[in-house]
Order: sequence, then structure tokens, then C-alpha cells
Amino acid sequence: MSDIINLVQNKAILAPLAGISNLPFRLIARSFGCALAYTEMISANGLIRKTEKTFEYLKSCADDKPLGMQIFGADPQLLAEAARIVAARGADIVDINMGCPVKKVIKAGAGAVLMKNPELVARIITEVKKAVTIPVTVKIRSGWNRSSVNAVEIARIAEDSGADAITVHGRTADQGYSGQADWEIIARVKENVRIPVVGNGDIWIPQNAVAMMAQTACDAVMVGRGALGNPWIFDGINHLLAGTKEQGDFFPDPAQRYEIIKKHWLMESRLEGPVATVRNFRKHLLWYTKGLSGSSRFRALVGTLTSAESMHDELDKYFRFLASGRLK
Ligand SMILES: Cc1cc2nc3c(=O)[nH]c(=O)nc-3n(C[C@H](O)[C@H](O)[C@H](O)COP(=O)(O)O)c2cc1C
Repeated sequence: MSDIINLVQNKAILAPLAGISNLPFRLIARSFGCALAYTEMISANGLIRKTEKTFEYLKSCADDKPLGMQIFGADPQLLAEAARIVAARGADIVDINMGCPVKKVIKAGAGAVLMKNPELVARIITEVKKAVTIPVTVKIRSGWNRSSVNAVEIARIAEDSGADAITVHGRTADQGYSGQADWEIIARVKENVRIPVVGNGDIWIPQNAVAMMAQTACDAVMVGRGALGNPWIFDGINHLLAGTKEQGDFFPDPAQRYEIIKKHWLMESRLEGPVATVRNFRKHLLWYTKGLSGSSRFRALVGTLTSAESMHDELDKYFRFLASGRLK
């Protein structure tokens, strides 16, 4: 992984996002210079049992590289087997989820609850590492809760167990996604391990990525919610870090935005079929139009439309309005 993090030209990575970071979303992010992308978390059990739904998450293509496939589970042997499966399916990296705070995942002993059990963390990483030749990365939080912030300890254990890089989301598991991410813990992890550290949490605009890198000395940044409806954030980060642009909001003009939405929609429709896309693409339309002038009518309508045709019609109408400044 030191290879992957240091060899990829750009420093901005797309986060694993359940229900969101599928193939079309990753390709759109990559088209704006995202250096590396991750699938959403995939159940180790589901992979081993070969459930159809689980294998949907592995869909990829030649342009979808480098690709990290994230697995979750609690049992070292099962995770090792799952890692073998994703490696055979073309993953360039296997990532182990040690940060998910969702009840169902925690109850199964997986995700962030693993941070409470350093010995198990060591066994999991050791077994996964033995099972595959591709790099193994681990994604953690700052700790389980405010009284057990142990990211540094877990990162050291991860390194000693063979992890090739570590991503730190600067929130405790019990914080969920609320409050502000603590970038200090990312800096402390960076000071304490030699493997690359990816900083994560609250990169909403390109300038935040530059600030995180400066404050924490992390090797790369990972963007989650800041990429929703805003894939051009990767382009902005790359420009700022390269010094090729000094400032700006890096938002595209309405015509470019419209083109990207249509492209994303088409890819989604090809992957999921038109019916599922009507259901799944609404959230993207809301993200893509958030904060745009006069978007409230369109955004209110999106939730009520039930056919692809009517959604396309309304989108076209709204973007014609944006281009002309008048609602027709
Ligand atoms: C809707 C949603 C789904 C997520 N799914 C995953 C996941 O599957 N695996 C994972 O490790 N983290 C997941 N996360 C956490 C993100 O990867 C990221 O760590 C977190 O959102 C903080 O980064 P951000 O402030 O840039 O969004 C998810 C977050 C959100 C909001």
C-alpha cells in the first residue's frame, strides 16, 4: 500500500459509502481525478455464502481502478476467506471495516466494536494479510467513545500485524456522524506509525483537504459526504495541492453540471436497470441540486415523481431555467 498511496498521482480518495459508492458513482468521481475508490462495506459472510446481493457490490470494470473492496465481519478466518474472494474478483486493495457504528453490524461483533478488542484486531489483520498478496488497509475511528480514544494503539497494532495503510475517521463510534471530526487524532496516528495514514472526516470543500494535510501531515485524504452531488471536489483538491489553482469554489457551470448528472444517471440505469434507477437516483438529484438557485420546486417534485420520463423532464426544465434565469 505504501506503493499505492505513494504511487497514485493524486491524494484524494473516495470513501466507502454504503448505498452510494457503487460503480457509476466511483467512475464519476474518478473522472474528476479521484485517486483511489472503495466499494461500500461488503459482508464477509455474504461473500462466503455467495448471496446474490453481496456479489452485486463487486461489480466493477477496467476503468474502475485502483479499487479497494471493503469487507466487514468479526471472525479472522471468515474475513481471510472473504479477502481471498475479493482479491480473486479483481480488488487492488482489501480494506477491513473497523469503523462502522451501525447497530446490526456492531451486534455481530464487526465494524467499530472491534476497536474495543485490540487482540482480535491483530488476529484479523494477520489472517487477512496471510490470505492475500494485494495490499491490506484498515479503516478505523478515533475510538469507541470519548473515554476510549485508542486510534493510536489500534493503528500501531494494525501496522505490527501487517496492514499496509490505515484510514482514520476522526470521530468516535458513538458520535456517529455528528459533531466535528477531530483531526488531532489523525495527526497523532501519523506521528506514531510508519505506514501511510489517510485522514478522513469533514472535507466539504477542497480547501478543507489542504488544511487537513497541513494540520495532520497525513499522506492522503478520504472524502465521503463532501463528494455527494459534488464529484468535482476531487478536481479542486488536486488543483489546490498541485498549486495549479490558488482558490475558488471549483463548482462547474450549470451546463457542465447537467452533463455530469445525465452521464451519472445513464451509467446508473445501465447498471441497475431503469426501474431501480428511478428509486435510487432521487438522492443524487437532491445532492446535485442542493443550494442551487431556484431549486426548491424541483427538489420538492423529485420525491413525488415515479417515472424516469417525468424525472428527466423536470430535470431538463429546471436546468433550462438555470440557463435562462427564468422558469419556463
Ligand atoms: C451514508 C454513509 C454510508 C457509509 N458507509 C460506509 C461504509 O460502507 N464503510 C465505511 O468504512 N464507512 C462508511 N461510511 C463512513 C465514511 O466512509 C466516512 O468515514 C465518514 O462519512 C466521514 O467522512 P466525511 O466527513 O468525508 O463524510 C459511511 C458514511 C455515510 C454518511
